[in-house]
Amino acid sequence: MREFDEKSITGAVIERLAECNDPRFKQVMSSLVTHLHDFVRDVRLTESEWMTAIQFLTDVGRTCTDKRQEFILLSDTLGVSVLVITLNHPTDHGSVDSTVMGPFYWADAPERALGSNLAEGVKGEPTFYSGRVLGVDGRPLPNALLDIWSGDGEGNYDMQIPGETGMKARGRIRTDAQGRYRFRSIKPTYYPVPTDGPVGVMLRKMGRHPYRPGHIHMIVSAAGHAPVTTHLFVANSRYLDSDAVFGMKESLVARFDRHPAGPGPDGEPMDTPFYTVEYDFRLRPAEGITG
Ligand SMILES: [Fe+2]
Repeated sequence: MREFDEKSITGAVIERLAECNDPRFKQVMSSLVTHLHDFVRDVRLTESEWMTAIQFLTDVGRTCTDKRQEFILLSDTLGVSVLVITLNHPTDHGSVDSTVMGPFYWADAPERALGSNLAEGVKGEPTFYSGRVLGVDGRPLPNALLDIWSGDGEGNYDMQIPGETGMKARGRIRTDAQGRYRFRSIKPTYYPVPTDGPVGVMLRKMGRHPYRPGHIHMIVSAAGHAPVTTHLFVANSRYLDSDAVFGMKESLVARFDRHPAGPGPDGEPMDTPFYTVEYDFRLRPAEGITG
């Protein structure tokens, strides 16, 4: 057939994959074409809406830089990121929940000694984080790595602060022989995802707020175990009920205990009130990874 109508076009495009020799790619593209065509038929997409979509995706691409990933933000705000994570990280192994990576990860943060302050010169209330990294069997994992990042106490990540060129509130910490970790940073607050780009335009048009509840990010990894990209959320933070990127998981909500000025957990004098947080991360064995 050389000519197609609004129904036969879908099968025709899929048929053109006949020579594709990558079965998974063939499956993914066939499904993509099917759903995309169904969507266009379902909403009876107009030509001007089609052009708006093309322009929108073009703008999303143009907004990306080496420090800003608007496509990840688009995926996050449409719930696609958390859907992919949920499908790929089953939680029935007793391991810590995964959640979105978000657009502010910066690879190769410096490795710091246990107990280091990752937030030197960063605005925010001092917070001491500690706990253990364990296998799902409860055995401590020495030399596990926590790659940690967060915004400051006003909700700004280093890469969003004008004139700030270095890493702030980031670092990598390794657990000790008992699988324990500890580090100091700040208590993160809720913040809006970037709204000055095309995703912001989309959110406003959808009638949505752009806020994420307060959280600190980490990728937790250990030899022989599946790494986990996750957060700790601040209990009682605003927007826990309506995270703009749908990443909130109850199991990741951590209690931030407030203490008056005085000696900190390691005996250091604290001249302002501070918080302590304790949380254990459980990792499943790498060989246990399934679909
Ligand atoms: Fe974040």
